[in-house]
Amino acid sequence: MNLLVVGGGGREHAIITKLKENPTVTKIYCLPGNGGISYDASCVAIGAMELDAIVDFAKKNEIDFAVVGPDDPLANGAADKLLAAGIPVFGPSGDAAAIEGSKVFSKELMKKYNIPTAAYEVFDTADAALSYIKSTNRFPVVIKADGLALGKGVIIAENTSEAEKGITSIMTERIFGDSGNRVVIEEFLTGPEVSVLAFTDSKAMIPMVSSMDHKRALDGDLGPNTGGMGTIAPNPYYTEEIAAVCMKNIFLPTMEAMNKEGRPFRGCLYFGLMLTESGPKVIEYNCRFGDPEAQVVLPLLETDLLTVMKAVANETLSETPVRFSKGAACCVVLASGGYPGSYEKGIRIEGLVAGQLRAENTSDSFVFHAGSKLENNELVTAGGRVLGVTAKGNSLEEAIASAYQAVGRIHFSGMHFRKDIGRRALDANKQEKK
Ligand code: AMP
Ligand code: GLY
Repeated sequence: MNLLVVGGGGREHAIITKLKENPTVTKIYCLPGNGGISYDASCVAIGAMELDAIVDFAKKNEIDFAVVGPDDPLANGAADKLLAAGIPVFGPSGDAAAIEGSKVFSKELMKKYNIPTAAYEVFDTADAALSYIKSTNRFPVVIKADGLALGKGVIIAENTSEAEKGITSIMTERIFGDSGNRVVIEEFLTGPEVSVLAFTDSKAMIPMVSSMDHKRALDGDLGPNTGGMGTIAPNPYYTEEIAAVCMKNIFLPTMEAMNKEGRPFRGCLYFGLMLTESGPKVIEYNCRFGDPEAQVVLPLLETDLLTVMKAVANETLSETPVRFSKGAACCVVLASGGYPGSYEKGIRIEGLVAGQLRAENTSDSFVFHAGSKLENNELVTAGGRVLGVTAKGNSLEEAIASAYQAVGRIHFSGMHFRKDIGRRALDANKQEKK
């Protein structure tokens, strides 16, 4: 089998690492990939949004199965184009990817099908949005750009002046371009957050092990929002009772709703949930594996990933058992100094051999590359989030300790990372045991 993976971040590296376990896989191409991924796949310099070039490449290289990682190409119809060229693909159609590509679409879907989420209103002018916020006068208030915004389209405003600044930047200055044509103004919810990724072929829905992201840049959940500074799995707040409620009130209704709208979803559907006093509610949907959630969830998958992905593409998921290990995993993101603001690139990364640690136990720790590049055969930094250092363990405590031990062996100038990934989860575990 020749496989093609579209994307070039830590998520795609985690997907490729897992796909490689299948003995029928002869070759994996990654477009565009990155420095670290090039040790595990043939990276070719075609961008994830160069859809026609991707399809051409897939045809010329006799690709048997393709996986599209990021949201942008999915929302722009990458899966449709590959399918039209006769290439089986894991990833939703552009119509189905609208569940992430348009917040207005996803909110209206949830309202129409009674899927629990924050109350909201939609506005297409800055004036209307702002007068609504002034008239309700309830803070904090959540402001979301309608379209994709690199995970940065959510503003939580504590007062009128912050709301005004946020709305101006999205709708008037248009910092996210057309993604700011409309905004959703949403009720502020509180409670622990849980990420649940699920395989679905539009007929069956199989949730994966739950996880917890750490979005803020600094320890103690302080500092600016980032793409994600680390993850743990499973998420201790996500009990079996809560999982059952989510399946019944959120996961299956979402699958059915997409079917009824004529947008059957086949791929990985990501549920960003908040466990509020009045039950679990959807904060956001993503049409793909989370990043860095994939970096902890996929290492815990015991079933062959390619088999599951093919079952999703063929709509035979209900006949395919999917098992996860009982253990835990922790991923600590090593970021460039300055991230999520501006940062230097091209800094030499030390402590790795062929992209990985000189590990004693290679099956339990992984260095997933998010933003690295090979320069004269040496790995250098090439992005804000550079590496996702992941370790598995029998318990969460063990996984966290191993991940930080591995982190201690890697260095690059300016490197910054959170020291408290998983701490809140451990505290929750202790609470429960009391
Ligand atoms: P998103 O980019 O949609 O993942 O949102 C980023 C973060 O904003 C989420 O992980 C939440 O922490 C927060 N957030 C989004 N919507 C709400 C809401 N309605 N109430 C409280 N926090 C929210
Ligand atoms: N980690 C959140 C995301 O992938 O959007």
